[in-house]
Amino acid sequence: MYKNVPFLPLAVIGIIVAALTAGQALLIDWLPPADSEQAERTFTLLWFLFWSSLIFFVIVTAVLVYAVWKWRAKDGDLEDGPPIHGNTTLEVVWTVVPSIFLIVVAVYGYIVLDRNEALAADRLNVDVYAQQFNWTYGYPDAGIETGTLVVPEGRQVQLNLRARDVIHDFWVPEFGIKGDAVPGITHKLWITPTKQGTYPVICAELCGVGHSVMRSQVKVVSAKEYSAWIARATAGVKATAAASAAAATLETAPGDVAAGKVVFEAKCSGCHAELGAKAGVGPKIVGTKLTTDELRTQIKNGKGAMPGGLATGTDLANVVAFVESIK
Ligand code: CUA
Repeated sequence: MYKNVPFLPLAVIGIIVAALTAGQALLIDWLPPADSEQAERTFTLLWFLFWSSLIFFVIVTAVLVYAVWKWRAKDGDLEDGPPIHGNTTLEVVWTVVPSIFLIVVAVYGYIVLDRNEALAADRLNVDVYAQQFNWTYGYPDAGIETGTLVVPEGRQVQLNLRARDVIHDFWVPEFGIKGDAVPGITHKLWITPTKQGTYPVICAELCGVGHSVMRSQVKVVSAKEYSAWIARATAGVKATAAASAAAATLETAPGDVAAGKVVFEAKCSGCHAELGAKAGVGPKIVGTKLTTDELRTQIKNGKGAMPGGLATGTDLANVVAFVESIK
């Protein structure tokens, strides 16, 4: 049955095609290092698909090249080819073999997806906010927000992707996974980093003029460093909140008119002449219609040519009390 099959020429063509294809696969560095559990599985699946496709590609191409070379029409030959009635065995083989292969691929792909998205009980929740053109990361359990994503090695991270304006796409090549951030919905990604280091976060969806610079970083650190980082960041947030609460209390406390006059002379009278009784560079203050709150806000933030922050804390409360006494 196989007496007429030209094994030798087919083998020679097959080896050449296989060498050229494998050369392309091996000589070019197609993929980044796989630095997450998900990337290891996905990249292995990808190479499995590649090498098995190569087998089919080599068989089909070898037969094709051989047939084109062997049975090409001679010069001046205008005859029709001989009538062929088909080959049942061949047709069954070329249907059944690819079908089995596709089932194998489907099952393998399902297993990879299922493992990549299996939820760990101790997973770390991080909210990812994308907007033109930057990334911010919220840690709901710690109540902090950062511009760099910091995650511990070896622990699953659940990224809740959200967009504040248009569609963006969160992509860390080394993690082997990317996901769209779409306005109005939360899209989840699960990543378990396996190697410490700093990786780029890239926006992989055209989102406007700044798309190409919409980059950030993810730092994968040890579990210990991560806990220390969270503790520091949380303490920082608490200290800032406490400081601004304390400052607000001082500012709004009842002020002392005499002490306020001293502050006024030092900081304000250069522009508000004669203790505010006359216009200088700045307007006259006596007769102002500003309320206490408006006065305080204006001294804090400035207005027009007047700079903000001339008086803070107790000084601010005192100077407001003084202005109140003359207005
Ligand atoms: Cu955001 Cu592209």
